[in-house]
Amino acid sequence: METVLSIKGLTKNFGRLCAVNNINLNVSRGQVFGMLGPNGSGKTTTLGMLMGVVNPTAGEFSWFGEQPNNQVRKKIGAVLEHPIFYPYLSGQKNLELNAMIKQCPPDNIPNVLELVELSGRRHDKYKTYSLGMKQRLAIASALLNEPTVLILDEPTNGLDPMGIAEIRELIKKIAANGKTIILASHLLDEVQKVCTHFAVLKKGNMVHTGPVDDVGKGAETVEVNADVPNFNELLMNFSGTSSINRENGFFQVTLREDFHGKDLNKFLFEQGVVANHLVTKKKSLEKMFLEILSEAN
Ligand SMILES: Nc1ncnc2c1ncn2[C@@H]1O[C@H](COP(=O)(O)OP(=O)(O)OP(=O)(O)O)[C@@H](O)[C@H]1O
Ligand SMILES: [Mg+2]
Repeated sequence: METVLSIKGLTKNFGRLCAVNNINLNVSRGQVFGMLGPNGSGKTTTLGMLMGVVNPTAGEFSWFGEQPNNQVRKKIGAVLEHPIFYPYLSGQKNLELNAMIKQCPPDNIPNVLELVELSGRRHDKYKTYSLGMKQRLAIASALLNEPTVLILDEPTNGLDPMGIAEIRELIKKIAANGKTIILASHLLDEVQKVCTHFAVLKKGNMVHTGPVDDVGKGAETVEVNADVPNFNELLMNFSGTSSINRENGFFQVTLREDFHGKDLNKFLFEQGVVANHLVTKKKSLEKMFLEILSEAN
């Protein structure tokens, strides 16, 4: 898989405050990469460095294997926190202006308007747009010069549930068209719904990175009980058992990778034991996120 972005030891200090501390990560082509972290964890600062608007204190990064330069930056479209458009001009006119600034031909404007579903409103003044439409226009503008990578900072901030759903669908559509997307979010749910990979930032430190799909894999826990003596031992004999805890009157069996609750159930049945309680608890991303944040104090 082609590496789009490679970050090594990236650090940013603002005076005595370390906003981003020695971050290492890689983003491959086609990924929707989420930077997840609470307010103030360094997401925007990181994106700012990647966009060349914040100077790193230390470390480096490369885009497509090249040191950042103007040519390479043209392959990256970004929607940072506050996009600026002229309120009294139409969406269409605003995009024409942006195309001029970016020195790209205006031919793409109908396509990007169609993609973000604003074709029907293109002649209306920007100030009459809803927040969701404004955000979609910002995304359209970032796509004008057909970048390979799209960077989004908190793309659904301030939107209502309908607007949030629209932006998430749009992100998936853009990803399906083959673009690599890097987005910052403090919303777990957002990362879980739209990202393929993610990194968790905590006070400027990267405390976790990996595929979203892997989250909770091999960490299935089954809460089980049966009215037999030495039930503990029986559970230990199951080849899928990784560890056992006693909690609220039940045995909490953490399973090894590729084992599931039904395998344990089958095993018990074959041993002539019928469980009177058996509940599979898959670890949610939320639980994991909270654990990650509390672990790395
Ligand atoms: N220009 C600046 N000068 C001084 N400190 C700054 C500056 N920009 C950011 N910081 C500090 O760096 C830290 C990280 O901020 P940053 O905006 O990157 O976080 P964030 O993860 O994007 O947060 P949010 O979710 O609120 O957008 C914060 O403590 C912030 O106060
Ligand atoms: Mg931010």
